[in-house]
Amino acid sequence: MSNDNLTKALKIVLADSYTLYLKTHNYHWNVEGERFYSLHTFFQTQYEELAIAVDDIAETIRQLGQKAPGSFKLYKELANIKDGNENASANEMVKDLAKDQNIIMESITAALDLAQKVQDEATTDLLVQRLAVHRKAKWMLGTMA
Ligand SMILES: [Fe+2]
Repeated sequence: MSNDNLTKALKIVLADSYTLYLKTHNYHWNVEGERFYSLHTFFQTQYEELAIAVDDIAETIRQLGQKAPGSFKLYKELANIKDGNENASANEMVKDLAKDQNIIMESITAALDLAQKVQDEATTDLLVQRLAVHRKAKWMLGTMA
């Protein structure tokens, strides 16, 4: 079986991860209100983790023989996650990021199914780890909203 579907699905995971990285950074910069410090710090933990993750996902696409998308134009075309709103309230930001965890988990699950089908254990492992990270983030954000 060809890896084409898998690399396509991984490109969506990369685009979603990068978009979520940028949105989380946006909210780190622009969050306001009583919860500023805790959310500013929490969002930093999240975007730092995502910054490392996008590199691993992109390099997996390279290992599978394709170019990794690396432009905002391509991310806009590929991503399921939408840009953030810097004027949102602190609680809207938390809710938005919590909702995005579901969106990215769907993209990861689609890629994971394909990785398992072609018995690509290394990519399966990466995607299982990404799923665990986003499930944990969903839980944490859900308690804050
Ligand atoms: Fe900062």
